[in-house]
Amino acid sequence: MGRQFAKLAFTPLVKRQQELHGSRRQYQRIEESGEPGSQLGEDEREFIEARDGFYMASVSETGWPYIQFRGGPKGFLRVLDDQTLGFADLRGNRQYISVGNLQHDDRVALFLMDYVGQQRLKILGRTTILEGGDAAQELIAKLRTSEPNALPERAFVIHVEAFDWNCPQHITPRFTEEEIRDLLEPRNG
Ligand SMILES: Cc1cc2nc3c(=O)[nH]c(=O)nc-3n(C[C@H](O)[C@H](O)[C@H](O)COP(=O)(O)O)c2cc1C
Repeated sequence: MGRQFAKLAFTPLVKRQQELHGSRRQYQRIEESGEPGSQLGEDEREFIEARDGFYMASVSETGWPYIQFRGGPKGFLRVLDDQTLGFADLRGNRQYISVGNLQHDDRVALFLMDYVGQQRLKILGRTTILEGGDAAQELIAKLRTSEPNALPERAFVIHVEAFDWNCPQHITPRFTEEEIRDLLEPRNG
């Protein structure tokens, strides 16, 4: 864990629990001398651009946490620079829960899973939504994928504040159809 993730996630009540359960000192060291963990490096870029989906949490104005899964072709979540991510938000069921929540609080938590590699990456950030107007159209054109029926409504820009890699424990390897095909292919040949 990096310093910046610890700074954002370790609230006074979290720290109190760490004290009660004996892990506070270990985490205090990370807060004081860990890696910054706020600028995406090559490992993070590669991992993010290989994903075909991720979970995104937002918070409603009534305080409820909310999670939605976002899926698309590999790489649809783009690394725009070492602190910025973006994706084109497509017209879907038109509930607009995440978009509504982000009008009140721009903060999101992203959760990216690699079941085969047994890795997970958590990202905390603030979101800017671009919708309507030339700047939005320009960014949507850059972010949209080649899916024929996709109708992008807006661009999501996520300003990364912190990230954290989790340990591989407890991740059951799962394979997509494509990954199974790739694994079986040499034997069929
Ligand atoms: C026809 C249709 C197509 C959809 N395509 C996608 C898609 O490609 N990727 C995705 O993450 N969600 C897709 N969704 C789901 C939604 O777009 C959902 O509305 C969006 O994730 C916003 O959810 P929220 O209101 O819970 O925030 C689709 C939904 C429908 C009805």
